[in-house]
Amino acid sequence: MALEVSDEGRAALLAAARLLAELGLNTGTAGNLSVRIGDGLLITPSAVLPGRMQPADMVYVDGDGHAHGAREPSSEWQLHRDLYRARPEAGAVIHVHSPFATALACQRRDIPAFHYTIARFGGDSIRCSEYHTFGSAELSATVVAAMADRTACLMANHGATVIGRDLDHALQVLREFEALCELYWRTLQLGPPVLLTVEEMAAVVERYRSYGARR
Ligand code: 13P
Repeated sequence: MALEVSDEGRAALLAAARLLAELGLNTGTAGNLSVRIGDGLLITPSAVLPGRMQPADMVYVDGDGHAHGAREPSSEWQLHRDLYRARPEAGAVIHVHSPFATALACQRRDIPAFHYTIARFGGDSIRCSEYHTFGSAELSATVVAAMADRTACLMANHGATVIGRDLDHALQVLREFEALCELYWRTLQLGPPVLLTVEEMAAVVERYRSYGARR
């Protein structure tokens, strides 16, 4: 039921889409974002510039995959739906073509433990998914697999996807992820980095369990 969607929810999604454009994390109509609503989701419309989107253009896709709205839902709506199904902790999904993440994704390379903050995304590496056509069920499946136990992944020859508890958290994860990709890109200019060991990364993951706990 589209009626479940609040005006505030639509406005917040639109504001986030515009913020991504302002930050240079998406350009033109690239990328899309959604929030979980019950067993469905609210997602940005397909092929509309964020500057031209209105709150009413946000599309509700119900749990059966039916879209409710005047606009077409993003072509990646299946990717968003499948991530919500696979990841109960996710309240928001953001897909971008941000410059540094996308440059790495075009190399089809995973990001190794070159910097300890990679653990912020759930483990000691970031995976790059396989390449499949945008908007396909195959792309959705490979991204869900690449995101296993992670909050971010690269998408081969395409971009990146992150999940968060809610929209604000997903935006934070995305900004940190693009910064990590930029660091890796810059590091590679100097040659292959020295990688952290499995033991060193296990200690970081352990330390992060209590990091910020008393905020
Ligand atoms: P949409 O405009 O349909 O959301 O597609 C943009 C995109 O980035 C596809 O991967």
